[in-house]
Amino acid sequence: MNTAFKPGLFEGKTAIITGGGTGIGLRIAREMAHLGATVILASRKMENLLTAVDLITSEGGKAHAVECNIRQEESIKACVAKTIELTGKIDYLVNNGGGQFPSPAELISPKGWHAVIETNLTGTFFMSQEVFKKQFVNTGGSIVNIIANMRNGFPIMAHTGAARAGVENITKSLATEWGKYGVRVNAVAPGVIKSSGLDRYDPAYKDFILSFAKNNQTTRLGTEAEVSSAVLFLLCPAASYISGVTLAVDAAESLYSPVMPPVANNANPAYEG
Ligand SMILES: NC(=O)c1ccc[n+]([C@@H]2O[C@H](COP(=O)([O-])OP(=O)(O)OC[C@H]3O[C@@H](n4cnc5c(N)ncnc54)[C@H](OP(=O)(O)O)[C@@H]3O)[C@@H](O)[C@H]2O)c1
Repeated sequence: MNTAFKPGLFEGKTAIITGGGTGIGLRIAREMAHLGATVILASRKMENLLTAVDLITSEGGKAHAVECNIRQEESIKACVAKTIELTGKIDYLVNNGGGQFPSPAELISPKGWHAVIETNLTGTFFMSQEVFKKQFVNTGGSIVNIIANMRNGFPIMAHTGAARAGVENITKSLATEWGKYGVRVNAVAPGVIKSSGLDRYDPAYKDFILSFAKNNQTTRLGTEAEVSSAVLFLLCPAASYISGVTLAVDAAESLYSPVMPPVANNANPAYEG
């Protein structure tokens, strides 16, 4: 486990990381645990969480698995209560858990739409609210929301583009409302990251998503470590004057990004006056 941060940076601190059993969330959890934090890995699949806890423990870290479905209010409440029971407090929340499926907009069903919005937007909001009510209102704390590059829309994933844009806005609202309690709220917007999440995509779309790699200034995919270091920086005291911002970790993809370039067509005849 290599890290750019000083040993013991998160000693004595507790962090909840939703989706901490896999991919980017696991990398964040491992790095925080390496730096002294007790990490709570929270998601639906206990099997993945327990494997991740074993890994972190074998690396000398402190980790617990707590089942949590961020789409269910009662599950969120139980997860936050369990965390406080296990560790006595919460210092950090990383809203990383999320998911979506590629689909042309006209084929997204109401069920699919609501599932993506409930997970990525509603789940993130209520997780933050519960942690605030049970802990941060009294002690302050720091939240980082993982969103995505949806600056120019999110063709073939309109649902998650909408959800993540919502989370970016919530980030600003909460940073403003909760600042007086010592709570900082920021977001990290990764470009296309080589993570386990990519493997879950339908092969037909995976190639399309991988082709985004051409659209950033490194012409490669990002790494989980590159996202993790941005998240850890925003959480840690060195970022104490930073709140309400979104940090793009995308090698400038969001400044360029012709994800779906125009195709020749006769569907838009010119208006000649
Ligand atoms: N990889 C990329 O290129 C990329 C780019 C931009 C943004 N992101 C976002 O970054 C985050 C991590 O992605 P990843 O690439 O590491 O993919 P991943 O391995 O699929 O991680 C997603 C995590 O979210 C958890 N999750 C999903 N639904 C949940 C729910 N209802 N309640 C609680 N946890 C839930 C999953 O755990 P369970 O299945 O156990 O619930 C899983 O651990 C995701 O939000 C993803 O959309 C990824």
